[in-house]
Amino acid sequence: MRLDVVSIFPEYLAALDVSLVGKAAKSGLLDVHLHDLRDWTHDRHRTVDDTPYGGGAGMVMKAEPWGQALDALAPVDGPAQPRLIVPTPAGRPFTQALAYELAAEPWLAFACGRYEGIDARVASYAAERMRVDEVSIGDYVLNGGEVAVLVMVEAVARLLPGVIGNPESLAEESHSGDGLLEYPVYTKPPAWRGHDVPEVLLSGNHGLIADWRHEESVRRTAERRPDLLAAWGDVLSGQDGTDGVR
Ligand code: ADE
Repeated sequence: MRLDVVSIFPEYLAALDVSLVGKAAKSGLLDVHLHDLRDWTHDRHRTVDDTPYGGGAGMVMKAEPWGQALDALAPVDGPAQPRLIVPTPAGRPFTQALAYELAAEPWLAFACGRYEGIDARVASYAAERMRVDEVSIGDYVLNGGEVAVLVMVEAVARLLPGVIGNPESLAEESHSGDGLLEYPVYTKPPAWRGHDVPEVLLSGNHGLIADWRHEESVRRTAERRPDLLAAWGDVLSGQDGTDGVR
């Protein structure tokens, strides 16, 4: 998968060289290209922002450098176009389902906004030739899109075939197939500082262990994320508009 990230702080993305994502890049599974937006400015101050039309606080990122950046990394008449992700707290939520969807793309580009965001014409210009998604990683406000890109790239990269040693670990984790949170996990020793590993996990009875883990998943989900269980209720009763198919 090819990844392009445009930012005024490309050094923020240095973390992409570390751990599983870094390994994926070194092994060629990920082809990462970082770009400094200021390379597409042409004034002495390398200006990327200006005051908002209509007034109000803060600054808005100018369309010109963004347009030139997009044209340079994905020429208008190029043989292929990336799917463009624009991180913003005003975007659609980033979910495990979207991570799987993005993991199937051959080429992703990320446009990191700062200040009050990017002139809205950049997204509509890009959408003339590529799929554009404005995406939020949660209901809180960061100073810019860079950390959100690190989050999304890590979530996507670990889904690429060959990145995770044991792909079975993907199936059982939180937010995977059954939509439940993952059950608690334990390792040796069986007794530690007065806290014991649940007996059933030491029993060797795989059927009982599977039942216990499912119950724990449901219990945790009900306690911590009742919204996830409510979403399943809607699916089962057909009220999510999908006729029970998701
Ligand atoms: N930029 C600033 N806040 C953000 C958020 N919550 N998600 C994605 N991008 C952002």
